[in-house]
Amino acid sequence: MPFSHHRLKKAVRRGAVQGCSGRAVARLLFLLVLMSGWGPVMAELPVPEGIVVPEDEYEGKHVPQPIEFPHDVHTKVNQINCMYCHTYARRSKVAGIPPTSKCMGCHKIIATDKPRIQKLTEYWERGESPKWKKVHDVPDYVHFTHEKHLKRFVFDKDFPVEDVYQVCGVCHGNVMEMTVAEKQRSLTMGFCRRCHEANEGPGDCWACHK
Ligand code: HEC
Ligand code: HEC
Ligand code: HEC
Ligand code: HEC
Ligand code: HEC
Repeated sequence: MPFSHHRLKKAVRRGAVQGCSGRAVARLLFLLVLMSGWGPVMAELPVPEGIVVPEDEYEGKHVPQPIEFPHDVHTKVNQINCMYCHTYARRSKVAGIPPTSKCMGCHKIIATDKPRIQKLTEYWERGESPKWKKVHDVPDYVHFTHEKHLKRFVFDKDFPVEDVYQVCGVCHGNVMEMTVAEKQRSLTMGFCRRCHEANEGPGDCWACHK
């Protein structure tokens, strides 16, 4: 059912000229990661070209959701782009969770016999959305914005938009392999700052503590 694939890809794609300065570094880092046996999850996720990924230690956190939403079925099997649902990521602080109307654009006709879709339809008919619980949540005194990171790592360098999950993955792990999203990166100050240091991001306190 890849009906959305080409349309979506077109909609979000720009010319595909790629720099290769970061490529060698990224490959080397990926190899080091593999050799150091740094968790199987990290090894599965390709290191996106042009990003030096900082070290991180984190156990992972699972947050139960009102409906078990399978990221893998949508993104891996049906190749729906992350930014098709998380539409605000490229232009604002937040990435955004899609409203139920967006789900129903497909699920009025797709998999209507499945219990989870019937539950979703009940929410829709009541005019409600499932109460998705927050998985990632930095403290209020921290300033974070998706837009700047995606601009720098995707759009400014014509990184292929269909591979954007690799860039999301630096901070969110390999969501394409997950059902409901799990927290897999620490997102602590140390992690943020190490990445800024390695990738020429801002180092001053006020960049993140306005
Ligand atoms: C069909 C729509 C859809 C697509 C495509 C999709 N997501 Fe999601 N995403 C959701 C929904 C619904 C939730 C809320 C349930 C959950 O947390 O699993 C969510 C939650 C998340 C969260 C956790 C949000 C929080 O509270 O911290 C992250 C991170 C995330 N998605 C990243 C991604 C990435 C990366 C991709 C691409 C590989 C992707 N998503 C593709 C619908 C989508
Ligand atoms: C672009 C179309 C599309 C959108 C938008 C979409 N889905 Fe899906 N979804 C699918 C397809 C295709 C499948 C796989 C159906 C199958 O295998 O029979 C699926 C499967 C599912 C399943 C698994 C059903 C089962 O038990 O097998 C759930 C749950 C689900 N979607 C929830 C959602 C939610 C919640 C949203 C909105 C956040 C959403 N979907 C948005 C296309 C979509
Ligand atoms: C540089 C790190 C980083 C990257 C890259 C990144 N995120 Fe996030 N993301 C975060 C942080 C930090 C939060 C928590 C923000 C907060 O609590 O205010 C978050 C929160 C989220 C959330 C839940 C809250 C919200 O903003 O709606 C979703 C969904 C999400 N990210 C999806 C994505 C997707 C999809 C991508 C890739 C297109 C992506 N993120 C790329 C760090 C990142
Ligand atoms: C993948 C490496 C990486 C990670 C991880 C990362 N950042 Fe960044 N961040 C950057 C880079 C590079 C820039 C500079 C982007 C530009 O403007 O070109 C940046 C820019 C920013 C900005 C914009 C500053 C400004 O005023 O323009 C903020 C705010 C920020 N990061 C906060 C955070 C926080 C908070 C975290 C952790 C939750 C984080 N970042 C994690 C690489 C990263
Ligand atoms: C790249 C982003 C970034 C920069 C730059 C940054 N911080 Fe932070 N800071 C964070 C994040 C994210 C947290 C939240 C940590 C957590 O939740 O574990 C934090 C937390 C804190 C806290 C709360 C206590 C703690 O340690 O957890 C203090 C105090 C703090 N920062 C001070 C500073 C000072 C002083 C500087 C400049 C030397 C600075 N920060 C630079 C991202 C940043």
